[in-house]
Amino acid sequence: MQENLYTIVSALLAVGFLAGLAIGLLLKKRHAAGINCLVRIGPSTVSGRGAFAAEPIRNGDIVERCPALEVTDKDVGGELLNYVFYGSDEHKRLVAMGNGMLFNHSSTPNVAYYREDTGLGAVLILYALRDIAKGEELFYNYGDDWWTTRQ
Ligand SMILES: C[S@@+](CC[C@H](N)C(=O)[O-])C[C@H]1O[C@@H](n2cnc3c(N)ncnc32)[C@H](O)[C@@H]1O
Repeated sequence: MQENLYTIVSALLAVGFLAGLAIGLLLKKRHAAGINCLVRIGPSTVSGRGAFAAEPIRNGDIVERCPALEVTDKDVGGELLNYVFYGSDEHKRLVAMGNGMLFNHSSTPNVAYYREDTGLGAVLILYALRDIAKGEELFYNYGDDWWTTRQ
């Protein structure tokens, strides 16, 4: 009787361990595939490509953390100028890597951003200004200056 109990408990522990391992591997695979990302890129409602909410996003949530590189305005020209952020002074530009480069503009934005300087360099952090439904396009406000300095 005691031996049976021992066998059952051992079997339950083994099943629990294997189930935990399988769930862990599945979650790791989903993460590696970017399935848990909050942003996906697709055809924009205003211009070319745009960024969209891949999941419901709550007011204040961080939408994307983009490693960024600060360069001088001499390093950036042509069309690339339309894809970079303002840097720490008027002669600097911040190149945000990843999805952060592809957010379009709206004067009623659902996203804003700030810069964080870390030991590994600058990071551009985009966060939600309100609750955002899955599938909504994500916009930040480029600012009046951005549009008046371009045709
Ligand atoms: C940072 S990119 C955004 C991604 C771009 N839509 C793409 O397909 O690569 C900035 C460019 O997108 C376009 N854009 C962004 N917001 C827009 C808007 N509200 N209306 C029209 N064009 C917009 C402009 O051409 C701008 O130069």
